[in-house]
Amino acid sequence: EFRSWIAEDGYGFAAAEIAATGECIGFVGLLETDHVPSLPAGTIEIGWRLAPEYWGKGYVTEAAEAWLAYGFQMLGVNEIVSFAVTGNHRSTA
Ligand SMILES: CC(C)(COP(=O)(O)OP(=O)(O)OC[C@H]1O[C@@H](n2cnc3c(N)ncnc32)[C@H](O)[C@@H]1OP(=O)(O)O)[C@@H](O)C(=O)NCCC(=O)NCCS
Repeated sequence: EFRSWIAEDGYGFAAAEIAATGECIGFVGLLETDHVPSLPAGTIEIGWRLAPEYWGKGYVTEAAEAWLAYGFQMLGVNEIVSFAVTGNHRSTA
């Protein structure tokens, strides 16, 4: 599904790689919430998931800042939202 949404929208939850090695560590990206019926419609979510061995290194912080810049500057949207369950402190940070 992520691939088809990227093809449709031009962006999505995309594979995240370590630039120096090309290692795939998880995904980070922007997603149109209309694709997911359980989310509030009509906005864009920023989201992430890394394999646990890559936690605690700041990779998501770096990737998320780049995706936020892409959303606000390139897509020109004025809102990007995110969701996490209560207690998911790593994601909320
Ligand atoms: C949510 C998730 C991606 C967060 O991972 P993370 O490693 O905590 O996030 P970051 O990559 O931004 O790294 C931040 C950590 O790296 C540390 N860090 C090390 N070098 C850093 C740097 N140069 N810059 C920023 N942070 C750095 C920070 O101190 C922080 O660690 P700490 O919380 O132990 O202090 C991860 O926990 C995950 O995949 N969870 C399962 C899926 C999930 O919950 N997804 C979200 C659903 S809403």
